[in-house]
Amino acid sequence: MTDVTQIVLCKRPAGDVTADCFRQESVELAAPGDGQVLIRSRFLSLDPYMRPRMTELRSYTPPFELDKPLTGGSVGEVVESKNPRFAKGDTVIGMLNWATHTLHDGKGLRKIDPALAPLSAHLGVLGMPSFTAWYGIRHICKPKAGETVFVSAATGAVGQVAGQLAKLAGAKAVGCASDDDKCRWAVREAGYDACFNHKTEHDAGAVLDKLCPQGIDADFENVGGKIFHAVFERLNNFGRVAFCGAISEYQDTAPMAGPPKMFTIVQRRLTIQGFIVSDHVALMGEFVSEVGGLVRDGKLRSRETVVDGLAQAPAAFMGLLKGENFGKLVVKVA
Ligand SMILES: NC(=O)c1ccc[n+]([C@@H]2O[C@H](COP(=O)([O-])OP(=O)(O)OC[C@H]3O[C@@H](n4cnc5c(N)ncnc54)[C@H](OP(=O)(O)O)[C@@H]3O)[C@@H](O)[C@H]2O)c1
Repeated sequence: MTDVTQIVLCKRPAGDVTADCFRQESVELAAPGDGQVLIRSRFLSLDPYMRPRMTELRSYTPPFELDKPLTGGSVGEVVESKNPRFAKGDTVIGMLNWATHTLHDGKGLRKIDPALAPLSAHLGVLGMPSFTAWYGIRHICKPKAGETVFVSAATGAVGQVAGQLAKLAGAKAVGCASDDDKCRWAVREAGYDACFNHKTEHDAGAVLDKLCPQGIDADFENVGGKIFHAVFERLNNFGRVAFCGAISEYQDTAPMAGPPKMFTIVQRRLTIQGFIVSDHVALMGEFVSEVGGLVRDGKLRSRETVVDGLAQAPAAFMGLLKGENFGKLVVKVA
C-alpha cells in the first residue's frame, strides 16, 4: 500500500472556477497488478483545456468525473512496475492524476531521457504546448517572409513559441498579453516586433491598426472574444486563422459569439481552421527534430511558472484563467 495525496473535482463550476470545486484527500493505493505501473509524480502541467473538462458539456475530451482525481499531462518516476515496457527508476511522461502517485495501465505512457532537458521542459517547450504552436504555425498559418502574424496570449506556453516560429519564418510578429512585463519580455526576449497590453489598451482595433498597418495575414488564436473580433476585421485577403483556443470565453455561461461580419470569410477568401494537437501525433518526430534543435541551439526562448506543491494546484489553475502565469504553468509535485 502507498499513501497518496490527491485532488478531486467535487463540484462543477458555474462561471468562474472557485476553490470549493476541489477537494484534497488522502487515500491508499494498492500495489500494481499485472500490466500496471505505480508512478510518483514530479511535475504536473496545468492547461486551459482542463476548464471545459470540468463541465459536462460534450467536447473533444470526456468531462472529468466528480469525486475522482483530475488528470493532467505529467512527468513522473516509476516506483514499481508489473508492465514489461517500464522498469523501476524510468522517467515517464503521460496523463497522471493530480496526485502524488498514480496507478497506471501504461497506455499513452512514454519513457523520456531525464538528462535531455529539465523535466518541466517536457511539458512545455519540448512538449504538448510547443507542439501545438509548431503545428498551428507550420500547417495552418504558414507565414511567409514579409507577412504579419498576430498571436494572442503571446507569452503563454503556446503563444511564446508560435510568435518565435513566425519570426523565424521571416514574418512580422505582433502579440498581446495582460501586463507590461509580459509585453516587454515578448519583444526583448522572444523577438516579437510589438506586443500590446490588452488590459490597458481598451481599443484593440485602434492598436492593431497602428501595429499592423499592412493588415494581418495570419492569426494564431488563443484567446477569442473581442480581441479575435478586432483581428478578424483586419485579416488580409487569403488570411489564415489557426484557431487554437478561446480562453477568454471558457468561463462564460453564454454561448461563444462569432465575429459580426461573417461574410468577410468569403469576401477575403479566409481559411479559419480549428485544430486539436492530439490529432497530429504522427508529426511529433518532425516537431521534436525541428523545435528540439532550436532549443538546443539557443534559438528559442521560453518562460515557465513553477508552483511548488500539489496543494497549490487549484489556486494556480484558477490563476491561469486570469493570466497570472507567465509562460508554461507547471506544479512541482516532488
Ligand atoms: N487546440 C489545441 O490542441 C490546444 C493545445 C494547447 C492549448 N490550446 C489553447 O491555447 C491557448 C493557450 O494555451 P496555453 O497552454 O498556452 O496557456 P497559457 O497561454 O500559458 O495560459 C493562459 C493564458 O491565457 C491568457 N488568458 C487567461 N484568461 C484570459 C482572459 N479572460 N482573456 C484574455 N486572455 C486570457 C493569459 O495570458 P495573458 O496574461 O497574456 O492575457 C494566460 O496566461 C488556450 O486557449 C488553450 O485552450 C489549444
